Amino acid sequence: MTDQTSLDALEQELLAQVSAAADEAGVEAIRVSALGKKGVISERMAALGKMAPDERKAAGAALNILKDKVTEALSAKKSVFAEAALEARLVSEKIDVTLPVRPQSAGTIHPVSQVWEEVVQIFGDLGFSVAEGPHIEDDFHNFDALNMPADHPARQEHDTFYFNEKPDGSRMVLRTHTSPVQIRTMLSQKPPIRIIAPGRTFRSDSDMTHTPMFNQVEALVIDETTHMGNLKWILEEFCKAFFEVDDVKMRFRASHFPFTEPSMEVDINYSREGGQLKIGTGDKWLEILGSGMVHPNVIRAGGLDPDKYQGFAFGMGIDRIAMLKYGIPDLRAFFESDLRWLRHYGFRSLQVPTLAGGLS
Ligand code: DAH
Repeated sequence: MTDQTSLDALEQELLAQVSAAADEAGVEAIRVSALGKKGVISERMAALGKMAPDERKAAGAALNILKDKVTEALSAKKSVFAEAALEARLVSEKIDVTLPVRPQSAGTIHPVSQVWEEVVQIFGDLGFSVAEGPHIEDDFHNFDALNMPADHPARQEHDTFYFNEKPDGSRMVLRTHTSPVQIRTMLSQKPPIRIIAPGRTFRSDSDMTHTPMFNQVEALVIDETTHMGNLKWILEEFCKAFFEVDDVKMRFRASHFPFTEPSMEVDINYSREGGQLKIGTGDKWLEILGSGMVHPNVIRAGGLDPDKYQGFAFGMGIDRIAMLKYGIPDLRAFFESDLRWLRHYGFRSLQVPTLAGGLS
């Protein structure tokens, strides 16, 4: 029997159940019990077939109204839960991107990476761009073009790692210095040239201050007028910025490199206070780099006319200046991946060196 009184009671009962549902699963259970195949409303719908036509019409209309009401209440309740779930998820997944980096983050920036970045920052500010070259070099770029022909005695000093001979008798090398990037840059760029080339270099050597792999930074300036005064100023500016001191004394010592003429080794002054090195004070001298005016033969090997172009170059050990600046005594430790060492000498991640924000 589908009379109106029992329908009203059923409606109240179902709507009360819906409004009391505790979660989405509860709503679904009510839907099944009312509108599923064996649900109370569905069963009543099925019973309509046995009624007389008049009775069926009235009862069918009433049932349809009930069905619509219950369906609507179910979907309204369902969306309340869906919204609440979304809200909860948004809250739980919220991140504040303005929060500072967690101090307990474990990784650190290696001193070589730090100093590399400091060097790039300083020379970038002085108008230099960064150039690169391959670690595996040919004889031409690593030696010949740098005015070191096959029988040149300076080749011996380089303790070169050679690859096996090729069929034509030539051998590739692991570059012994970053100077070959000078040649590659001159061959590929038009003057004025103003580049630095930081990178890995390799020599068969190992003690407190030498490792088979080490890092250098090369600098090359080529145009029509650059002279030694410019070189000196650039180096002074670099040293003051890098060692973060107001003043540093420099000594240019006459030296010899095949690829520069004249050639100078550059020393800076320091003192030792309680075992600590202090750069820019005192009257002791530390060698930090080799430099000079680019040799005409090198300019020629770079495809340029030495009667028109001139300039300077220098090369510096990145690991070496890292040791000096941060008081690290043994170079070999740089490459041992000892966690205690990395924690002690490493820099906090995201503490990017900039001239404005401070280098170290
Ligand atoms: N290439 C030299 C070396 O490893 C360093 C050097 C000295 C580079 C003088 C230069 C320079 O550009 O002018 O040992």
